[in-house]
Amino acid sequence: MKLLVLLLTLVTLVSTARAQQPGLIANTDGRKAISLNGQWQTIVDPYESGYYNYRYQPSENGYFKNAKPKSKSDLIEYDLDNSATLKVPGDWNTQSEQLFFYEGTVWYKKSFDYQRKPNTRLFVYFGAANYLADVYLNGEKIGRHEGGFTPFNFEITKLVREAGNFLVVKVDNKRRRDAVPTLMTDWWNYGGLTRDVKLIETPATFVNDYFIQLQKGSRDRVVGWVKLNGEKPQQQITISIPEAGISKSFTTGANGTALVDFTAPLRLWSPESPKLYDVSIEAETDQVRDQIGFRSIETRGTEILLNGKPVFLRGVCIHEEAPFRGGRANSRADAQTLLGWAKELGANFVRLAHYPHNEWMVREADRMGIMVWSEIPVYWTIEWENPATLENARNQLSEMVGRDKNRAAVVIWSMANETPLSDARLSFLRNLVTHARELDPGRLISAAMERHYLDATTQMIDDPLGEYLDVLGCNEYVGWYDGLPDKANRLEWRSKYQKPLIMSEFGGDALYGNHGDVLTRWTEEYQENLYRHQIAMLKRISFLRGTTPWILMDFRSPRRPLPKIQDYWNRKGLISNKGEKKKAFYVMREWYGGMESSAGNSDYKP
Ligand code: GCU
Repeated sequence: MKLLVLLLTLVTLVSTARAQQPGLIANTDGRKAISLNGQWQTIVDPYESGYYNYRYQPSENGYFKNAKPKSKSDLIEYDLDNSATLKVPGDWNTQSEQLFFYEGTVWYKKSFDYQRKPNTRLFVYFGAANYLADVYLNGEKIGRHEGGFTPFNFEITKLVREAGNFLVVKVDNKRRRDAVPTLMTDWWNYGGLTRDVKLIETPATFVNDYFIQLQKGSRDRVVGWVKLNGEKPQQQITISIPEAGISKSFTTGANGTALVDFTAPLRLWSPESPKLYDVSIEAETDQVRDQIGFRSIETRGTEILLNGKPVFLRGVCIHEEAPFRGGRANSRADAQTLLGWAKELGANFVRLAHYPHNEWMVREADRMGIMVWSEIPVYWTIEWENPATLENARNQLSEMVGRDKNRAAVVIWSMANETPLSDARLSFLRNLVTHARELDPGRLISAAMERHYLDATTQMIDDPLGEYLDVLGCNEYVGWYDGLPDKANRLEWRSKYQKPLIMSEFGGDALYGNHGDVLTRWTEEYQENLYRHQIAMLKRISFLRGTTPWILMDFRSPRRPLPKIQDYWNRKGLISNKGEKKKAFYVMREWYGGMESSAGNSDYKP
């Protein structure tokens, strides 16, 4: 009897391992991939007539069929092969004036041939698609993805042909009340296949995912897991770090997973020395290589400790707006420009707002030695009581952590930005915090919260969410939305929690080249003066351990129509969208420069 039960369990385990759809494929850079970037044929379909029939029911003969007239009398009212094209990766809004304000559906089509080798599998991988993507191959639906800023992949092994494949994606960036983000944001709702699209070829059983980082609080114990997917889940795997003389073997179980645990004398990653190791994960049927840094990040009281030492996070916020050309940033060059400016500012930290940015940003931050705050777009007033909204937010969180969990640069996961207090909101966000800790017990959890006045001159941070966070984030606009710049001189800050604070937003607008006296809004002098008062106030906050002014570079927002000043740009950048540094840039650089030179000594204060 016992034997039978055992056998049964084994069978179910094996069958689940075999049948299990692979999750997000980790590290697509380190695999055999074919890029599908380039020009894609497109159809702009505001009425979604390529998806619904005239009764507004989903049609079986939608544009995903890529149908062709079979005779001169045949009636086909679209032609994906001869339609206008758009560049992928790229948002559609900045590629065509007609689409600048467009929110709706655009159909994308890419044709390709593919000779699949025996015993291999094939996946299509999207870096991101904003917002709702329905994906079809050769007329068959292969999947749907919701969320505009995280990667996803689908297996197409059984559907792909030698020649004449057509991959069709319906991308819909319409805003919805129940979505994440919801209807109102202060950034442009750039739509489209905004990041790289590629075909990933793998062996029949492959290294689907892995998590290899230092254990929380340790500086030499490497823990994590490796997960295989395929019909041979039980294998020997070897993790090698040749430069550190490390080669450790583990065995995966029936579910394809092996727990990893070993000690290693590693040089630790830090902004001063962003050491990345070549790491290879070798299974019997597959091998993946990656570049991984090892560092510990933790808090102790109001301190943030990097590799056991107190650190001040000299940061700046960044939106994923492309420098110079505008639109969604999506390349290594964009990342190098934006992070290069942050370095020039004296930053060792960036807050990537308000959604996970493209993988180039975090990989460049890894290489350049810039710590990262990464956030999911739970922004302003989400539908807290809607279970589907919660599931959506949880999924975006899983995908954000899934993609970047092996990046040493990423030190903080942020759950939300400026969300209004309520019990429903608190339980929603607590659910996310718990989920984040399950996914990744090693990193710090935070959120950008708001403060309130205890009296005319006392700011209080006592958002109940603070209880569940490792690091408090707080946004304040003293001197811009709240009084004039000198108001900061009179303010004192308190917190209910013995935890480190990052002032996650502060600042004001200025149009580059617009000059006047310090009290004239929109001038560089006003912004410069505001920053001087801010810095003086921030220096007085004893539990402050980081700052990320809003924002590195001007960015587009539909909420900013002021003619000749904003013209749909939020002008709070320290740098204009054309790369011109405003006066306030130098005020911040001076402060950070002073800190940088004294950062060595452990008891320094901002
Ligand atoms: C908010 C918000 C940002 C916004 C900024 C502003 O606090 O978090 O997304 O752009 O303030 O008003 O400029």
